[in-house]
Amino acid sequence: ETGLITLDVGFKNTGATKSTITYLDGDLGQLYYRGYPIEQIAKKSTFTEVMYLLLEGELPTLEQLNKFEGDIKKNSLVSEEMKQILKAFPRSAHPMGVLSTLTSALTAFNPHAVNVKSEKDLYNAYTLLLGKFPVLCAWTYRLKLGLPLNYANNRLDYPHNIYQMMFRMPTEDLEIDEVFVDAINKLLILHADHEQNCSASTVRMVGSAQTGLFASISAGVSALWGPLHGGANQAVIEMLEMIKDDGGDLQKWIDKAKSKDDSFRLMGFGHRVYRNFDPRAKVIKKVADDVFSRLGVEDETLEIAKKLEEVALNDPYFIEKKLYPNVDFYSGIIYRALGIPTEMFTIMFALGRLPGWIAQWKEMRMNNEPINRPRQIYIGNPKRDYIDIDKR
Ligand code: SDX
Repeated sequence: ETGLITLDVGFKNTGATKSTITYLDGDLGQLYYRGYPIEQIAKKSTFTEVMYLLLEGELPTLEQLNKFEGDIKKNSLVSEEMKQILKAFPRSAHPMGVLSTLTSALTAFNPHAVNVKSEKDLYNAYTLLLGKFPVLCAWTYRLKLGLPLNYANNRLDYPHNIYQMMFRMPTEDLEIDEVFVDAINKLLILHADHEQNCSASTVRMVGSAQTGLFASISAGVSALWGPLHGGANQAVIEMLEMIKDDGGDLQKWIDKAKSKDDSFRLMGFGHRVYRNFDPRAKVIKKVADDVFSRLGVEDETLEIAKKLEEVALNDPYFIEKKLYPNVDFYSGIIYRALGIPTEMFTIMFALGRLPGWIAQWKEMRMNNEPINRPRQIYIGNPKRDYIDIDKR
């Protein structure tokens, strides 16, 4: 508020581009990838098939999918020198900061894949990134725990590979947990794209200056890290733990979230576009129930989350503001049940969002969109003359 006009800032109602990739209807709570409803995709597809759909625009034939997966696997070896960058970090470093650095460093170690002049160059660049990014994500986990680094195993599919790179120990055979693989496949699909969200807009913004793909995606990783965006899945768990340790008085925390003189917000609730249930949250809630019943574990945090959701959804403030659970509300609870530490939750979000970021970047570059350069409403000082320091 400047007293002159109410500023609606933060790209709240800006149509930044035209896109054919993902469709959201915020009022109806609908999400389609290339026209396919997310509920069907999450139930029937695989993450690499969704990558192909987002990047190429159509569901692949078996032959197309096999070639695509083969081209990704060809790129799954990360240069040894990149381990030196990783190991320069303290174990206390947040994995998202490590990942954005390593992703940007791919430019230095893969100069041949940076100058994208044709659709073939672009395909080579993004299959390289799709091959190396999950290795880098797993390495951030191994760094945090001080464990030896694993390589990708090209005999395995994407979710199985992620599991073995994160959890394989050199001292014993690895028994892959299929509950983990099924849940991760669905979670990666559900996070794969979401039109012009903060991080995808960042990737487009940086890429519009003709910056390379890896540096553009590195900027997207940094944007996703924020607790108001992808970092919310970590913030939800921290909030639920805080409520539990504080004695579990849900109404107290909901009232705090409503009060204007308090910066506390109910993490995992609300959305810039959805004024209804986030369709992903509905699917993820079912995945949570499935994971816990298959693992045969109780989780107090899940119970608190369900009660918190029920109280909030019946609270007049949340109803008036149209605040519903979003994609981050339940995802962290599942990651934790699968043995993933809290600081890795947003890494899992980035792993899922990578094909969406690339698809957005590809669309922007193939459409030769101009450099993004938004304007402003100037509300600063009118023209005035310089004052020498001895007269101030
Ligand atoms: C993701 O954009 C995407 O698509 C993102 C994403 C994706 O897939 O890429 O869906 C992923 O980032 C999901 C959102 C994760 N973030 C959180 O869960 C953090 C908590 N949520 C809020 O901070 C908030 O709801 C945002 C950031 C998600 C949206 O913020 P907006 O659109 O700027 O909404 P707003 O701040 O204008 O809120 C409108 C009103 C405000 O009150 P008034 O100023 O009108 O009085 O609702 C209130 C807000 O104070 N409000 C909340 C709230 N969210 C909004 N009040 C309490 N708790 C909340 N969570």
